[in-house]
Amino acid sequence: MSNYHIKHLEEYYKIYRKSVREPEVFWEKIAEENFTWYKKWDNVLEWDFKKPEVKWYQGAKLNITENCIDRHLSTKGNKTAILFEPNNPGEETQHITYNQLHERVNRFANVLKNEGLKKGDRVCIYLPMIPDLAVSVLACARIGAIHSVVFAGFSATALSTRINDSDCKIVITSDGSYRGNKTIDLKKIVDEALNDCAGVNSVLVAKRINSEVTMKEGRDKWLQPLLNNASSECEPEVMDAEDPLFILYTSGSTGKPKGMVHTTAGYMVYTAYTFKNVFNYKDDDIYWCTADIGWITGHSYIVYGPLTNGATTVMFEGVPSYPDYGRFWEIVEKHKITQFYTAPTAIRALAKEHLDYTTKHDLSSLKVLGSVGEPINEEAWHWYNDHIGKKKSPIVDTWWQTETGGILISPLPNITPTIPTYASLPLPGIQPCLMDEKGKEIIENQIDGRLCIKYPWPSIARTIWGNHQRYKETYFSAYKNKYFTGDGAMRNTIGYYRITGRVDDVIIVSGHNLGTAPIEDVINEHPAVAESAIVGFPHDVKGNALYGYVILKETGDENSFDKLRKEINQMITEHIGPIAKLNKIQFTPGLPKTRSGKIMRRILRKIAANETDNLGDTSTLLNPEIVQEIIDNSL
Ligand code: PRX
Repeated sequence: MSNYHIKHLEEYYKIYRKSVREPEVFWEKIAEENFTWYKKWDNVLEWDFKKPEVKWYQGAKLNITENCIDRHLSTKGNKTAILFEPNNPGEETQHITYNQLHERVNRFANVLKNEGLKKGDRVCIYLPMIPDLAVSVLACARIGAIHSVVFAGFSATALSTRINDSDCKIVITSDGSYRGNKTIDLKKIVDEALNDCAGVNSVLVAKRINSEVTMKEGRDKWLQPLLNNASSECEPEVMDAEDPLFILYTSGSTGKPKGMVHTTAGYMVYTAYTFKNVFNYKDDDIYWCTADIGWITGHSYIVYGPLTNGATTVMFEGVPSYPDYGRFWEIVEKHKITQFYTAPTAIRALAKEHLDYTTKHDLSSLKVLGSVGEPINEEAWHWYNDHIGKKKSPIVDTWWQTETGGILISPLPNITPTIPTYASLPLPGIQPCLMDEKGKEIIENQIDGRLCIKYPWPSIARTIWGNHQRYKETYFSAYKNKYFTGDGAMRNTIGYYRITGRVDDVIIVSGHNLGTAPIEDVINEHPAVAESAIVGFPHDVKGNALYGYVILKETGDENSFDKLRKEINQMITEHIGPIAKLNKIQFTPGLPKTRSGKIMRRILRKIAANETDNLGDTSTLLNPEIVQEIIDNSL
């Protein structure tokens, strides 16, 4: 599995040039030399961004779990595949070897089969970060069922929307979850969600917190007895290269969440290749990504990427602040973590705490530090570099998206010289470009543009579940023949990319993508609310926080405002989840609108950010007088 390891900068440039000149030759060789195929492909790539359609390795037959597990058994059977670190530091770490993972996945796969699941059926997984989560994901892949993992911080409404959108037949959950010193009753949330999901006829429940749960007769089953009774051998389903592997929902700027569909072979090849190179993974390393498997980072770089490489991957159930702010660093020391991959929001939160939390731990095992999910600001970058990496562990600022399946732009550790805030160079096979607002490619450097990708890579999402038209409109309509990322970026004179942030109505809060329209829809449901608009504003830990401007149906008296604020945030928590709560809510008699009735968010953003000196042109507004009023009452 080391036939694709890049070792120095000249080699990177050489490989990069080749990958652009002959992408198919490049990706064919990687696929050929590093994976187990039941049958090789007839055609490496077929694509047309106009339709849009992308197919990699067509005709090939494989099973991704064979590549993640079975093929390692003869040489690495007793190696730890998953190292599970529980929420409570007093509870013992679990080391799940490749042999044990094989047995657990096979048993779980047979449980799913016994439930009547077949290739192509959708399975909703709503679990905390416990080994059953990774095992259930792999069990689905074993039998060719399509997993749809929903982050266990989402509310019942958010869960039922996702279950119904992809018509899941079964839900896998647990009685509850631990989160720091709190417990959350997940099964209760599932019960509530299922009131709206007629298609679900089976719920499998793992025991984690031993809370009391109501089990619905004929529908709900405890998982453990089923696993005990299932056979430990399950032949992997033979999958076509382009069979869907999973659906993962991501917020859009409007409408309901988009179920991004990833398929089997291309996703496997790309996540394996990028894991190896971006983290410079070596055989005895202990790799830890702190993301949740409910997000794409967890799918690609806790489960599939590491396991295809036969790595040891850490799953952490808890939070960085429990039992204190030294938890991450205690785990790094305890397991001698070599690669550590987290989000800027976590770095910023920890950097605010006393340095003792870091200095009392031995962090010398670290070799590579990763960052993902949002732009990393210079201050956070330096803190990470100075206090965690001690200036000897390169920081890989990895830019990518749910839609891209894997990392597209990133330094390679000890190879690409790093510059704070720059995600730096495209990985082999990735052809980024910057476009101006008129649709022309920006050839010059140092100019802000919109980031697009010109050519397909193996792990690009193939469609939005049930809505190919929306896929086309969202990603392939803005610029002809290009995938549009929704991000702004700038390229410097040495070809490094710096991601400047979203250019659409998606706001990244603590590394989570939030569309403004779905939150506004929830607020507008409040009986007292006539209209609302949400914008992001800079926040020193979250990166961005949400600012809501709300018009009430009747001018309320100020005494009722705090109550209304609480009610609005409560509704958001119930319909979406606590991550979408607003930091500030300003009640206003109007919103700045253009003559065509569109809210001018640019002005609202500036007011929220307290940048009212230069509001730009407001002459096209229908109601310019409202601007000063909003400024006068801003929070
Ligand atoms: O705006 C970019 C930001 O996160 C968005 C993708 O979010 P999501 O699909 O949830 O996936 C997050 C994990 C891959 C992007 O459009 N983003 C992600 N990584 C970076 C980033 N922005 C700047 N720098 C990054 N390294």
